[in-house]
Amino acid sequence: MTSDELFVWIYLPGDQTPVVAGRLGVSQTAAGKLGHFTYGRTYLARKDAIPIDPVALPLKKGEYTFTSLSGFPGAILDSCPDRWGVKVIERLVGQQDYPRGYILRNDPGRAGALAFSTGAKEAPQEQSSREFSLEQLLTAAEDVEANRPVDSELLKALHPGTGGARPKCNIVENNAVWIAKFPSIDDEPLISIPRLEHATMQLGRLCGISTAETCIREVNGRDVCLVRRFDRQIDNDQIHRRAFLSARSVFYADPAYVAVSTPSYARLSRWMPRYGCTEAHRKELFRRMVFNCMVKNVDDHELNHGLLHVRGDTFELAPAYDIVPSLKRHAIHYHAMLVGESGAGTIANLVSVAEAFTFNRDEALAVIHQIQQTVKEGWRDVFYAAGFGDEDLRTVEHVFQTLPEGSELSDRR
Ligand SMILES: Nc1ncnc2c1ncn2[C@@H]1O[C@H](COP(=O)(O)OP(=O)(O)OP(=O)(O)O)[C@@H](O)[C@H]1O
Ligand SMILES: [Mg+2]
Repeated sequence: MTSDELFVWIYLPGDQTPVVAGRLGVSQTAAGKLGHFTYGRTYLARKDAIPIDPVALPLKKGEYTFTSLSGFPGAILDSCPDRWGVKVIERLVGQQDYPRGYILRNDPGRAGALAFSTGAKEAPQEQSSREFSLEQLLTAAEDVEANRPVDSELLKALHPGTGGARPKCNIVENNAVWIAKFPSIDDEPLISIPRLEHATMQLGRLCGISTAETCIREVNGRDVCLVRRFDRQIDNDQIHRRAFLSARSVFYADPAYVAVSTPSYARLSRWMPRYGCTEAHRKELFRRMVFNCMVKNVDDHELNHGLLHVRGDTFELAPAYDIVPSLKRHAIHYHAMLVGESGAGTIANLVSVAEAFTFNRDEALAVIHQIQQTVKEGWRDVFYAAGFGDEDLRTVEHVFQTLPEGSELSDRR
């Protein structure tokens, strides 16, 4: 294989040292990129081996090939940083070959349980940094956004490992790992977006949705939203990692997906059983779809949903994260991941796909009404408790309006 070969390592459950799981080579062909992945023989022989993706890459001998996603299996691409991480890496070491160069910048904060190197005998080198205060990190994040010089140790600390566009980094606090999400110069100026994320996640919890734990830290009069990582656990001062797969990886596990290329809640739900997810997880996904419509979280794209490893081939729906209302005023909102059949955030359209979430029409309607009622009655108290004042509430109150009834015809774009 070519020099572009990537060795894929995995932290098996409970382990602090990664082992080689397989290797990926990507070659350029006349038709585009072609990726070849093979599990290592030693890895396949292990009793405790787990598949990197139980559907796209079940444990077996032989080569898997990939033509989508730059020749990368989704599960491996999930380890690649996104806009913010890319920006930080480029400040540190300059532009890299995407995605390989960015994936190779191993960071302890990367999503899930994988790590990478260019040789089987060369263990992944993680880019740990010194510890900094949240105040120093926030100032450095602002400097990165404003293109001001930043100390390289601070840049390393700002590398979140995970994806996402917002300025962020990882911190360890209260025996847990958190993603610290900072304000951004691109933020809507009328309200604090980190606090809006925290408040909306609290509201989701009130609606019975399993959300990642969040809290707000005030730093120099600015808000930072801490989101507790669900793919990390600290036991006896050691950080344990859990494998993670984005909804994008689930979609691309279906070879037919490329022809459709429409990420939808219903498709995710229909594929979840192949990953061992139960009916309860599929019903939870329906609640999230309804809640996202209710709070106008229209940026609910395929990297904002994911699955978390449980054991063996089994994954579960990861807690909900990155739920932030859009403050744009529209009669009907359309979402990044297709809602219902038409994409419209209306009751008729939400109900149109009830069966994909193991609900019948009446059950789905009951869920919608329960969430609507809880949001309507509860959002003010939740937002006050999150530290917002009367003026902030006036800024966002239009978000929490009752959903339009809609009809199948009028919902079509
Ligand atoms: N609580 C969490 N635990 C583990 N991983 C998480 C958690 N929250 C987010 N992530 C991972 O980090 C990525 C970035 O986080 P998040 O989506 O909150 O950032 P963002 O910058 O707001 O994203 P976007 O670009 O979608 O606006 C997610 O796509 C997900 O892979
Ligand atoms: Mg996101």
